[in-house]
Amino acid sequence: MSVTSTKPAKRITVHTIQEMKQRGEKISMLTAYDYSLAKIIDDAHIDVLLVGDSASNVMAGHETTLPITLDQMIYHASSVIRAVKRALVVVDLPFGSYQGNSKEALYSSIRIMKESGAHAIKLEGGEEVAESVKRIISAGVPVMGHLGLTPQSIYKFGTYAVRAVEKEEADKLLKDAQILQDAGCFALVLEKIPAELARQVAAMLKIPVIGIGAGGDVDGQVLVLHDMLGINKDFSPRFMRRYMNLYEEIKQGVEKYIQDVKAKDFPNENEQY
Ligand code: KIV
Repeated sequence: MSVTSTKPAKRITVHTIQEMKQRGEKISMLTAYDYSLAKIIDDAHIDVLLVGDSASNVMAGHETTLPITLDQMIYHASSVIRAVKRALVVVDLPFGSYQGNSKEALYSSIRIMKESGAHAIKLEGGEEVAESVKRIISAGVPVMGHLGLTPQSIYKFGTYAVRAVEKEEADKLLKDAQILQDAGCFALVLEKIPAELARQVAAMLKIPVIGIGAGGDVDGQVLVLHDMLGINKDFSPRFMRRYMNLYEEIKQGVEKYIQDVKAKDFPNENEQY
């Protein structure tokens, strides 16, 4: 039975997901970087699509999210936007496009909104980005925050281990979450922090809190699409649930095609003019 067949394709907005939190309905979010996969995920009725800077790893094969540029993010975002009829599309501000000052942050956000047609932006950090958050929102652009393991700071952290385990960092995260809400963020992503701390943040804030490796007591979940579909076979942190094994399926399909070509079995008489 399809769970999607009865739902009307009504656009999800920042207000929709805030109402979902109020009525206790969990928010589903996945990453997308290209037209074809974004179309499938939108047709499946995902609530939020994130054009994440994880495109740097997943699409371009970089070790970190740092190398991806604003132009490349806009390219990915435009491809996703062309596919989407229903989901809220949020786009990451890439490393180096907003940390300079709030004017730079606003300029980068406006480029994303104008050139891709996205619905909102996401940026990493707490108190240090609050002024930028306010400035971007004052121009009419909705902002999603991101705390905990913020991959753009990987060289500061030195490791992808769980964040905010110690009290000092946990207290700072609680303070930053409140600051981001007060600055006007419409939602917040919490990445790889203890479940109990994530629960406290979600209970404290009015805005939706969406977790990745942050336990179940938050308002929604996000995963990287290529990880949950099993396209990346080498990445399997504890928080990640793999719903398919596409690496093997795609490989087997390609191997069969090669076999057919070599055996002169493809194309057959019905597959030619
Ligand atoms: O870039 C990304 O994929 C993200 C998610 C991990 C939340 O920021």
